Parts: sequence; C-alpha cells; structure tokens
Amino acid sequence: MEGYVLLAWINVALAAFNAGLFIIKWAIKRASQGKEPAIRKAWMQKIQLFSKIHRLTGLLLIAFGLLHGYLALGNRIAWHTGTLLWISILVIFAIFLLGKAKIIKAWVQWHRIADLCFWGLLLLHLLNPWLFL
Ligand code: HEM
Ligand code: HEM
Repeated sequence: MEGYVLLAWINVALAAFNAGLFIIKWAIKRASQGKEPAIRKAWMQKIQLFSKIHRLTGLLLIAFGLLHGYLALGNRIAWHTGTLLWISILVIFAIFLLGKAKIIKAWVQWHRIADLCFWGLLLLHLLNPWLFL
C-alpha cells in the first residue's frame, strides 16, 4: 500500500475519533447518572482526558492531512477537493481558537456545524476527488 493511502485512512480514523467526542461525552455522562459523587467525579475526569486527546488528534489531523495531500499529488500541494477538505479542518481549528479568545460565543456549536461540513467534503473527496481538474 502506498504511504499516502495509509495516511488517508489514518486521517479518516482521527476524524472519526474527533467527531466521536460527542458520543463519548454523552455515553460517559449517561453511565455516571445516579452514581455516587466519587464515581461521577472519576467519570468527569475521563471526559477531560478524552477532551485533551481530542485536541492532540485534531492537530495531528492537520499535519497528516497536509502530508497525505503532498504525497498523493506527487510531492506538491495544488488546488484539489482534498485541499478544500483540509481547509475545512483549519476552519474547525480556527473556530476553537476564536472561541478561546472569546471572539465567538457558543463556539462549540459552530465547531460541530463545521464538523458536519467536513464530513460532506470528505464524501466529495472520496466520490469525486478530481472534481476541480
Ligand atoms: C484541530 C484541533 C481541535 C481542537 C483544538 C478542538 C477542541 C475542541 C474542544 C476544546 C471542544 C469542547 C468540548 C470538549 O473539549 O469536551 C471540542 C468539541 C468538539 N469537537 Fe473539536 N477540536 C479540534 C478539532 C476537531 C475536529 C477535526 C473535529 C471533527 C472531525 C472536531 C469535532 C468536535 C465535536 C463534534 C465537538 C463537540 C463535542 C461535544 O458535543 O461536546 N474537533 N473540540
Ligand atoms: C491537502 C489536502 C489533501 C489533498 C491535496 C489530498 C489529495 C488526495 C488525492 C490526490 C487522492 C487520490 C485520489 C484518487 O486518485 O483516487 C486522495 C485520496 C484520499 N484522501 Fe486525500 N487529500 C487531502 C486531504 C485529505 C484528508 C484531510 C483526508 C481525510 C480526513 C483525506 C482522505 C483521503 C482518502 C480516504 C483517500 C482515498 C485513499 C484510497 O485510495 O483508498 N484526504 N487524496
């Protein structure tokens, strides 16, 4: 298997993990309902751990996405459905930064909406990768 293909599917896995934070948080909250305070606290700490991993995997996705694209296009970067997809990840990241800087309120909502756009663009990238050529 070529390196760029392996990286491509690692990227899909990273994106799925990141989007799954929503489900992981929901499942942990549900599992801790009605439990003793000490158990609830331990579960909440698990959420924080997933949240930290989420930031790391998000940044890895930015780096590996660009590397995958560079290799897939024969050691160059050009305008492509993948480039658009990659820009959508930058937007997701930018929303996080703007939220932290208190420039966007309710940023998590926008972060989630941008995530939905990402999945749409991934479908385009897979179904019609060379659309722009
Ligand atoms: C690029 C770096 C990224 C950073 C620094 C980041 C950071 C965050 C933070 C701080 C939250 C708040 C919720 C929490 O931490 O519990 C969050 C939520 C979320 N992120 Fe990201 N994120 C990044 C990338 C991504 C990517 C690439 C995706 C999807 C492919 C994504 C999908 C989500 C979703 C769906 C939520 C909502 C979870 C919920 O409902 O609470 N994030 N992100
Ligand atoms: C700078 C950004 C990117 C560029 C330039 C790019 C470019 C490409 C190219 C040229 C292909 C081969 C298309 C073909 O002929 O079939 C490809 C395949 C693929 N890309 Fe990207 N891509 C980028 C980002 C991404 C990202 C961020 C992801 C995932 C989150 C991704 C996932 C995939 C997948 C799953 C394939 C199919 C691999 C296979 O053949 O099994 N790409 N990409």
